[in-house]
Formats: sequence, C-alpha cells, structure tokens
Amino acid sequence: MQIDTKIIAHRGSRGTRPENTLVSFQTAINEGAEGIETDVHFSKDKQFIIMHDETVDRTTNGTGLIMDKTLGEIKKLDAGIRFSEEFKGTQVPTLQEVVNMLMKINFTGIFNLELKTNKIHYPGLERAVYEYFAGLRYPFQLIYSSFNGKSLEILNKIDPKAYEARLFKTAAKQAKTLKRSKVVEDFHPDIKWIKQHPFYAPARHLRPWVVNSTEDMQYCFERNMAAVITDYPGRAVQLRSEMRGGLI
Ligand code: G3P
Ligand code: CA
Repeated sequence: MQIDTKIIAHRGSRGTRPENTLVSFQTAINEGAEGIETDVHFSKDKQFIIMHDETVDRTTNGTGLIMDKTLGEIKKLDAGIRFSEEFKGTQVPTLQEVVNMLMKINFTGIFNLELKTNKIHYPGLERAVYEYFAGLRYPFQLIYSSFNGKSLEILNKIDPKAYEARLFKTAAKQAKTLKRSKVVEDFHPDIKWIKQHPFYAPARHLRPWVVNSTEDMQYCFERNMAAVITDYPGRAVQLRSEMRGGLI
C-alpha cells in the first residue's frame, strides 16, 4: 500500500519518555520519527522555554507559571522525576537546546514548533522566534503551529514565507478563513474531530493529533494523510511498515 504519511512525535516520544525533554526528542528520532512536535513559552526573562503547560506543576517538581520564573529558576527544576525515577535529573530544555540537538545530528525531518499562546499570549514571542530562526541555517523543515490564529497572523505579517499550520479542536471555520487568506498551509486537527466531520481540506493537508491507537493510525495511513502526530512514534513506524507490506 502506498503510504506517504510522516510520523511526528508529539512532545517527543511522550508515551515512553518525559515529554518535551531532550531524551524524549532523541528517542523519537531513534525510533524512526520523521518529525518532532513541541511547544514554546516565554520565561520571565524572555527566554524560550520548551514545555506544554503554562505552569510547571504537572511535568516538574516545581509550581507556578513559566512566565513568573527566570530561566535560571526553571533550569533547577526536574522534568523527569514525575515521569519515572529513571529520568530523575532531566532538565527542562530551551528552544535553543532542542535546535542544537537537531542540528548536531543533521535532522532533516519536520520540526513543528507550536507557539503556546492560546492561554497566555506572551507579548513579542512571535517576533522573537522568527528572529531566532532567521539568524540560523538549519537542516530541518520548520513548521509553526498555534491554537491562537492571531499568533499565526502576526508571524505571517513578519514573514509571509513562514510555513504555518492551524491547530484546532473545533474552530474549523476560523481555520478555513486563515487558509483562504493564505495564512496557513495545512491543518493539525484533533483526530476525534476529524473522524466525526467531513472536512474540506484534502488529506495531504492534514496532520491530526494525537494519533495513538492502532485504529486511529490505520485510519490516517489508509487515507494517506500528510502526517500523524503521536505519543508513540515507534509503534507508528512499525505499523506503517507492516501496512506498506514490510517495506520500511
Ligand atoms: O500539535 C498537536 C498538539 O500538540 C496540540 O495539542 O495540547 O498537545 O499541544 P497539545
Ligand atoms: Ca503541542
């Protein structure tokens, strides 16, 4: 079966490693993921912090909002211990650390950076991210995404060539408007949503999340979607290979 669907690791190999950490990203790549998805926030001193939530409570041994802490304070936190004792001592990475890791291994896949601005819209995050990447030569394909359409519009104004994708759970109408105005190229919808709604965009423009069950992976592979965003990249690579008739 012809399956071109790429496998993007959601917060790294989140099912098997502490999410959004260097070990999680490295594991995903070792497992054969062709893409990495991650989330960025601003610390109090305007440093790029890689974390999913707006607070450090769920994934570290600390408490409080990222925006109220300096990078130095965040670096003292343990981002592995809540996942398991084995990962005790794992640090919260900065965006630069993740990018350095990807550049070191010459990662040529997708780097999907979600601007986490839908709950706290950090002033200046879009421009700061743009300027950071503008000063770099990187080997991967950078795709920005956000649940906050405003962030994508800001980015688009700064850099009309930026490759952007609209994330959504239910706001498909707004996604359509952004597509029409050429702000976004592709969509990252919730897999539950996509299975329940006929969608106007062709499968080659869809990268649903979070595609973890065999059934959902098969659903996306059979439709040859652009990518799946999954917590289990290793499983997805294996299943895709089987569906391709064992040809990788
Ligand atoms: O990129 C898709 C996915 O990351 C969006 O949801 O909440 O995991 O950031 P969330
Ligand atoms: Ca995300």
